[in-house]
Amino acid sequence: DKGAYPFYMLKEVDEQPAVMRKLVQKYFDEDGKPTIDEELLKSMSEADHLYIVGAGTSYHAGLIGARIFEKLVGIPTSVHISSEFAYEQPLLSKKPFFIFLSQSGETADSREVLVNVNKNNWPSLTITNVDKSTLSREATFTELLYAGPEIAVASTKAYTAQIAVEAILAKALGEYMNKPVAGAFDVKHQLGLVANGMQSITDSKSILKDLSDKYLSKPRNAFYIGRGIDWSVSLEAALKLKEISYVQAEGFASGELKHGTIALIEKGTPVIGIITQDRTAGLTRSNLEETEARGANTLTIVSRHLAKDNDNIILPDVDELLSPLLSVVPAQLLAYYTSLGKGLDVDKPRNLAKSVTVQ
Ligand code: M6R
Repeated sequence: DKGAYPFYMLKEVDEQPAVMRKLVQKYFDEDGKPTIDEELLKSMSEADHLYIVGAGTSYHAGLIGARIFEKLVGIPTSVHISSEFAYEQPLLSKKPFFIFLSQSGETADSREVLVNVNKNNWPSLTITNVDKSTLSREATFTELLYAGPEIAVASTKAYTAQIAVEAILAKALGEYMNKPVAGAFDVKHQLGLVANGMQSITDSKSILKDLSDKYLSKPRNAFYIGRGIDWSVSLEAALKLKEISYVQAEGFASGELKHGTIALIEKGTPVIGIITQDRTAGLTRSNLEETEARGANTLTIVSRHLAKDNDNIILPDVDELLSPLLSVVPAQLLAYYTSLGKGLDVDKPRNLAKSVTVQ
């Protein structure tokens, strides 16, 4: 039931702080230790490569997870679109471990990969919102997202829950394998900060509505840009915008713009920069200026400690690895208000189904 909300998507965006708190409750014991099954940690620790597989938003959550696993655990991790992996399997390492990300647990493309994984007796984990779903039943291990039902076609709270569970798992695995970086990463505390930060962003809806009315309602194209983890978020931000508001949006590695795509910038093209990483903040800012010099309307989504006077959306500070949990929220709301402003059916965009059970 969506209660007083006009659309499920808005309700689900607003539920994200509560989902973060629930995950803390579900995944930590009284002493603050992650409660991940030892058998799972053992199996993962024996792998020489982690393969994350998913589609759409779940693939995007995998892109963030891979960065977190490599940093905290030190096992090489790659991320794959399931419909590609199923038919163009890359050369695999000797001891692979597979992580399936799927909100519904029913995505046919991902299942196709899992069937083959099982044929080869490779160990696997499904991270899903739906207990006893097909991908959950067929994988060796399951961890749940505890996000509650996600009804809107555009996935929001499942994305942030997937990233949070990946971070908790990476922390637990890193500690299990005695990796000092993991020991120093206080994911429980950070998820508390994230929950409060999400709340403050969802409390600023009127700013996001005004920005979308002013900059996104008319143009046919838009760009999200960023570097590193901000680039990964920009892919998800662009997917949200195109999926529900039909603006042709691209997420771009900001350094790549000048290698071709900047030719598309014209007067009034919205270019939104995501800036949360110390090392690359200055570079993304100069890439934004380059587009502005060619007529773009630039907007910024920036972590507080990197913010400048004329930035548009300021995010509370959290650990850099978890910044996607906050930077995606304004992007979800910008997409929502753009779709709403156009009078579209936000929850049921044309041509799309919530769960894609055909290949
Ligand atoms: O249920 P899944 O997470 O496996 O679904 C994967 C994609 O179909 C899904 O994330 C899709 O991209 C969403 N509509 C995006 O908002």
